[in-house]
Amino acid sequence: MTVFRDDILDGRVAIVTGGATGLGLEVARTLGRHGAKVAICSRKEDNLRPAVKELAAQGIEARYGVCDIRDMEQVQRVVAETVAAFGRIDVVVNNAAGNFPAPLTGLSTNGFKAVVDIDLLGTFNMSRAAYDAYLGEHGGSIVNISATIQYTGMAMQAHVASAKAGVDALTRTCAIEWGRNGVRVNVVAPGGMTGTEGYSRVTAVTGTGTRSPLGRHGTRHEVADAVLFLASDAASYITGATIAVDGGACLAR
Ligand code: COA
Repeated sequence: MTVFRDDILDGRVAIVTGGATGLGLEVARTLGRHGAKVAICSRKEDNLRPAVKELAAQGIEARYGVCDIRDMEQVQRVVAETVAAFGRIDVVVNNAAGNFPAPLTGLSTNGFKAVVDIDLLGTFNMSRAAYDAYLGEHGGSIVNISATIQYTGMAMQAHVASAKAGVDALTRTCAIEWGRNGVRVNVVAPGGMTGTEGYSRVTAVTGTGTRSPLGRHGTRHEVADAVLFLASDAASYITGATIAVDGGACLAR
């Protein structure tokens, strides 16, 4: 079920990092169902292969690239392969993220760095590679998946909150520097969302309660629709913005 016209991304090409599973796959599916060709990437080919098959079965033209977004050369290769195969890039969704709950005293330097490198450095790498290869000359839309926990801090999530605060800052700076080139850069900040690996990991520690005034957790579908909106021309004058898709939960901490 969609409330958007199904051709709003016709002729567009999207790259979705972490697009093989969870929210990333839902985003790829949503952009694809609205006309985009999608390239998904992740570290695990075993996840990518069935995901592309599933997208193709729904009539979506999809391909995958294996890469660790922490490695700029691998990211540049996937971006180049996407342009070679699909001819363009219009939308980049920086969705790939790492998360495990750990108290500060349970976090090694390497554990902290692993999450910052995936979430923040990975977002920089993919944004920069796509900008250099295509977006800088042709314009487009970058949507960074962030979070809301960094607004207040959250126990067991120091590494993630720090990384996401960086993603928010990076987003605003990209929006300022790249606006003249027609590149819009925005954040979608999901709150508690059922049906994702991150949700299972975090709620195993925090419990499944919600602070949302709406009294429930969100769904991947609801978050993906916000990404679709920002990717589309309906958001043509929106850049540097954050849309929290958390049912208002961050108001009630
Ligand atoms: N508690 C504390 N430290 C942890 C941890 C946990 N639950 N899980 C991983 N780490 C630490 C590791 O011990 C290691 O640090 P060390 O070298 O000092 O021991 C460091 O994090 C890197 O771990 P490693 O597994 O080698 O890194 P990776 O790059 O392969 O994995 C992670 C990345 C850490 C994000 C891993 O949790 C992961 O792959 N997660 C799957 C994807 C995911 O998180 N999805 C949810 C998205 S919201």
